[in-house]
Amino acid sequence: MANKRDFLAIADFSAAELWRMLERALELKREWMRYRANPPLLAGKSLAMVFQKPSLRTRVSFEMAMQHLGGYAFYLGPQEIGLGKREAISDVARVLAGYVDAIMARVFDHEHVVELARWAEVPVINGLSDYNHPCQAMADMLTIYEHFGKIAGLHIVFVGDGNNVAVSLMHAAAKLGAHFTWVGPEGYEPPAAAVEQARAFAAESGSTIRLLHDPVAAVADADVIYTDTWVSMGQEEEAQKRLQVFPPYQVNAELVARAKPTAIVMHCLPAHRGYEITDDVMDGPQSVVFQQAHNRLHAQKGILVEVFGV
Ligand code: CP
Ligand code: NVA
Repeated sequence: MANKRDFLAIADFSAAELWRMLERALELKREWMRYRANPPLLAGKSLAMVFQKPSLRTRVSFEMAMQHLGGYAFYLGPQEIGLGKREAISDVARVLAGYVDAIMARVFDHEHVVELARWAEVPVINGLSDYNHPCQAMADMLTIYEHFGKIAGLHIVFVGDGNNVAVSLMHAAAKLGAHFTWVGPEGYEPPAAAVEQARAFAAESGSTIRLLHDPVAAVADADVIYTDTWVSMGQEEEAQKRLQVFPPYQVNAELVARAKPTAIVMHCLPAHRGYEITDDVMDGPQSVVFQQAHNRLHAQKGILVEVFGV
């Protein structure tokens, strides 16, 4: 397929392209909220959803987004195709591409989704890898934009592990002109190469990237406080150690009180209540976590129409 458009990383898209997807998402959201219907833009299109890890939001939001747009999506779990185990990734990619119009994959090793994209003749969407989570960042930016009416100039602070969600959020912030601070324990920073890339994007958009270790200093002028699990899928063996290192970085009422009173609190979910975020904050007036989760549906629509080129 000539000129196919994969969605593997925020870093692969220009600010204008990201905005185009966000605008389509907003437009389709408004329509959906008003009429409970969207035009069948993806009529006759199919999406295979390959999951090597569990999922609630990504799986259901993609499946429903395809259905709302008149297309068809189906789930392939870890037991079903054994990506790279039962069969080489390059073979899975070439076979699937003969049956479906696009593939969405959630994998462990980021290289696996890159390899799928390399071999599949149809577009591949990254539904989370150990390195990044670009679909999540699109829903995050949609939520931030809806709340503040802008993204550029805001200050987004990610508190916790410099993980896949942090990487995509940092890149989206830097591309779209928001200042970004990561704060967490030493040794758990986002990967250095990703930070370097973010700094280059930030230099272009006029924003800044900071890495800090003091949570109180980090959130001082935050518009957005964002957190995620301390133990990501695949890191279960490190859980004991991580649960000892991360508690000073809990997003609780005391920390939120140090940010602007207008700050919002975000979490990609699933949350581990009482660990990275407390119940009172998650269920409190500054939390937008459920709006953010619901925006996965709308953001996926913006991504799908882009990759399908409609
Ligand atoms: N935030 C997110 O990707 O959730 P799931 O793991 O449930 O898909
Ligand atoms: N960082 C988390 C995100 C889950 C959506 C993980 O990878 O498990």
